[in-house]
Amino acid sequence: ALHRIPHPPYRLPLLGDVVGASRSTPMQDSLRYARRLGPIFRRRAFGKEFVFVWGGSLAADLADETRFAKHVGLGVANLRPVAGDGLFTAYNHEPNWQLAHDVLAPGFSREAMAGYHVMMLDVAARLTGHWDRAEASGRAVDVPGDMTKLTLETIARTGFGHDFGSFERSRPHPFVTAMVGTLGYAQRLNTVPAPLAPWLLRDATRRNAADIAHLNHTVDDLVRDRRAGGGGGDGDLLDRMLETAHPQTGERLSAQNVRRQVITFLVAGHETTSGALSFALHYLAQHPEVAARARAEVDRVWGDTERPGYDQVAKLRYVRRVLDESLRLWPTAPGFAREAREDTVLGGTHPMRRGAWALVLTGMLHRDPQVWGPDAERFDPDRFDAKAVRSRAPHTYKPFGTGARACIGRQFALHEATLVLGLLLRRYALRPDPGYRLRVTERLTLMPQGLRLHLDRRTPPP
Ligand code: HEM
Repeated sequence: ALHRIPHPPYRLPLLGDVVGASRSTPMQDSLRYARRLGPIFRRRAFGKEFVFVWGGSLAADLADETRFAKHVGLGVANLRPVAGDGLFTAYNHEPNWQLAHDVLAPGFSREAMAGYHVMMLDVAARLTGHWDRAEASGRAVDVPGDMTKLTLETIARTGFGHDFGSFERSRPHPFVTAMVGTLGYAQRLNTVPAPLAPWLLRDATRRNAADIAHLNHTVDDLVRDRRAGGGGGDGDLLDRMLETAHPQTGERLSAQNVRRQVITFLVAGHETTSGALSFALHYLAQHPEVAARARAEVDRVWGDTERPGYDQVAKLRYVRRVLDESLRLWPTAPGFAREAREDTVLGGTHPMRRGAWALVLTGMLHRDPQVWGPDAERFDPDRFDAKAVRSRAPHTYKPFGTGARACIGRQFALHEATLVLGLLLRRYALRPDPGYRLRVTERLTLMPQGLRLHLDRRTPPP
């Protein structure tokens, strides 16, 4: 069935479709191919064929949970040595997925989220303290760097009662450096033939082992401290991992699985949210009319309440649309893989064997002109007003993946990011660097490269 799927014109023996390919930006590379080759296409690398899907109707068909499920492949599979059968990297058949899902899902309930809200405000205050100092001295701020500090501290504090001290450091916390290393390594593994990786990436492989050791070490310390303190996390994620038995089976997570979950949540819980906030701030700085409208909403809904309450965040409808639209153009987890549960026919046209899989290119799905119109490349938050959303085909906006294995932290991320955008809009006017052109770096996730903004405190300060 593969032969009917288009592929790039120049295929080299052994290497495959590497002509013109860029190894440091594989996702943006695939977007270029997508535009040339259409809604479904394939690329060959080192003797294997990979199928990519981005057309709205084909992607919607892949969302059918009765016929398709998550596939652990490519970048996600390469993270197995780090995260094993943790929630994100577990195979569907591994019993620890359901166990951990059932034990941890209540950690994302409305009630739990309302408890995190106060801690999110505290962390946000550390960010604004940091930005106030930059503003006072006329320095531009490093947006991705500071958003990473914010989101790491937020997940560490809410999930694990831990403080990495990110805002007191001039360089990223070593945990972040190790994480960036392992994500980048997992991405690079896709660019060399697997059997040759130990040779071709010899130094990188050694560094990666050291990075993994550092992640494990950090997490083991964190768990040891909690156990030594005799619990006391007030039912946070770590308490749930350590103490909570499955409501039906009474089973608990093993020590090894706890380690994997802690790493998973510390990484999955901050890296993509940081990117989402960074892209949103970029678009706000580039579109003063959007920023003005969003800021007017914050002033209207929050008034001069210094610490907005939990319920006041969801009321920022327009700010949320800015975030949704940023995640449309740059979904910071840029793809997800789906496999056939049984022999089936994708979209009524492409037969797939049981276990065959395809990668959904979210960033391209989100730019399909059939779904988003001829101006799909344009930034326009009004695409997410209620009427526009109702009139769009289902399963065509998927920044958080789909089905049973979709993002467990979706509400957490949206609440955190909307809250922080509200606080920043209320406090500062954002000015871009005149010469800045958006460039996107990839390390499995996406991040605007070198994004700096100039700040002006709003007068009178609200
Ligand atoms: C899964 C995106 C924030 C934890 C996923 C998946 C996507 C995604 C696309 C599915 C991956 C797949 O199908 O292979 C995002 C984005 C975020 C975000 C774009 C921010 C804007 C978070 C946060 C947390 C989190 C804040 C935790 C607090 C997880 C976990 C999974 C997951 C544990 C695996 C779920 C499972 O398989 O059961 N995320 N995520 N994510 N995410 Fe997120």
